[in-house]
Amino acid sequence: MRNHFNQFLLVGFVTVIFSNIPSSQGASVNENTEPNQKLLILMLDGFRWDYYDKQKDELVGFTKFLNEGVQAEWVEPVFPSLSYACWTTIGTGVYPETHGILGNYMYDREFNETFSIEDLNSTQLERWWQNSEPIWITATKHNKKAFLREWSRCDVAFNQTRPETCTGYVGADGVEGVRDTLQAGLESLKGDYDLVMVYGEHIDNIGHQFGPYAPELKEAIVGVDAVLAEFLQGLEEAGLSETVNIIIVGDHGMKFLGEGSGLPSAAKFLNLSDYINPNDVLKIVDRGPHLTIATYENTLDKVYQSLKGQEGFDVYLREEIPEELHYRNSRLVQDILVVTHPDYYIRGLQSPNQLPVDNPDGIHSGGAHGYINSMSDMRTIFFAKGPAFKKGSVHPPISLVDQYQIFAHLLNIPAQPNNGTWSKVSGMLKSQSDGSIGYAYPMLTFGVLLAFLSFV
Ligand SMILES: *[C@@H]1O[C@H](CO)[C@@H](O)[C@H](O)[C@H]1NC(C)=O
Ligand SMILES: *[C@@H]1O[C@H](CO)[C@@H](O)[C@H](O)[C@H]1NC(C)=O
Ligand SMILES: *[C@@H]1O[C@H](CO)[C@@H](O)[C@H](O)[C@H]1NC(C)=O
Ligand SMILES: *[C@@H]1O[C@H](CO)[C@@H](O)[C@H](O)[C@H]1NC(C)=O
Ligand SMILES: *[C@@H]1O[C@H](CO)[C@@H](O)[C@H](O)[C@H]1NC(C)=O
Repeated sequence: MRNHFNQFLLVGFVTVIFSNIPSSQGASVNENTEPNQKLLILMLDGFRWDYYDKQKDELVGFTKFLNEGVQAEWVEPVFPSLSYACWTTIGTGVYPETHGILGNYMYDREFNETFSIEDLNSTQLERWWQNSEPIWITATKHNKKAFLREWSRCDVAFNQTRPETCTGYVGADGVEGVRDTLQAGLESLKGDYDLVMVYGEHIDNIGHQFGPYAPELKEAIVGVDAVLAEFLQGLEEAGLSETVNIIIVGDHGMKFLGEGSGLPSAAKFLNLSDYINPNDVLKIVDRGPHLTIATYENTLDKVYQSLKGQEGFDVYLREEIPEELHYRNSRLVQDILVVTHPDYYIRGLQSPNQLPVDNPDGIHSGGAHGYINSMSDMRTIFFAKGPAFKKGSVHPPISLVDQYQIFAHLLNIPAQPNNGTWSKVSGMLKSQSDGSIGYAYPMLTFGVLLAFLSFV
């Protein structure tokens, strides 16, 4: 009896699994018949995938949101798991090697130009941004009105086109910064905007300063939760709850560093100066969870050999960089890439060749991101609710590149060529319920439960 039952389960499993395969490459985002619905995307910087679950009992706004909507179990970011690289992938659906924004710092050797998150003039240079068309530009070209607040470099024209309203990223501190952008988003939804993209930095700032497990971080989540609850209330009062799709995304997670804490779980700090003589390098771009090095022709091998085989990081020449990082096929990749192992952090040089130069006393950091994107601490969130989404379900993990097609689908505009997989996200939508992964997941869970019961 039990054997038969297990066979039945096996057949069930196989049916469930195989019935999903045809949809995996099939449905195209362009076969779209969603009615015109507005879309608001809230990006919460540094919102690690497990923050919500760890304190959901005290969260009101997020819990209400998820009861009415869907969530991906987690989102794997891109490499490097840094803001500008991830923001640009969210906006375009392509990997950094394609959109060309390789991190928060870059160096363009051909034009002798640097890109630094701390220098607005450098990030506002148009040339960096022309490789891939962001969603707000495609929307604008299709006569949709877009409103962006604090969103990446939306203030830089793409091929001479700009969205209707935009203030780019300059950084807005505190929970007040999140409230201001969300309230501005609400006002624009009440007006005639179709696409609203707003950003909050608070959780990332606190995560860096105190680390992902600190009471300050928990407090920050509670603060943002209250701001979200207030926003949802405002949305209801404006009669927009049933007509606007709301998506909350993060860009990356956060790893505990605990610099100076003396805790056994703290990261091990290495000094780049123990391996590299500043005179041998033209530029060191970034530090910590990863860094890249521009050398001279006659120093390349020396620098490479001094790093190769050391404890705490992997070293690659440009042509050795693993394909699966989707990083190496960019003009802006330097001669050497160093990818730090999860329990380490590499301090940069104290030299004008280092971009950026940190305080010599250390950065006194509680947390960091920028590690390899497959590391679980780098994962982030995708929460969505609204007329287009299913209610109250959890979907299998997705990748950061997958989200873009959802945005294009909901706006009823053609997705630009991208690296997303439609079948990984389509199951979250009410209209795409035919054999999608979103159904398989609860059925698999059900199957596991049955299998378990059959052994008891
Ligand atoms: C590159 O620019 C820096 C300052 O921005 C300058 O000091 C340096 O000489 C320039 N290098 C070359 C090769 O032009
Ligand atoms: C940015 O450019 C403006 C105008 O060109 C200049 O006044 C300002 O000093 C620059 N800021 C930095 C940080 O270089
Ligand atoms: C830029 O816009 C022009 C005019 O609309 C168009 O012909 C061209 O293909 C666009 N280039 C890119 C890279 O999108
Ligand atoms: C790195 O440098 C700092 C500051 O100079 C020093 O305190 C620390 O011991 C060094 N770490 C290693 C692993 O050498
Ligand atoms: C990602 O998409 C772009 C645009 O279609 C394409 O050029 C690139 O080859 C894709 N990358 C991968 C790894 O498939």
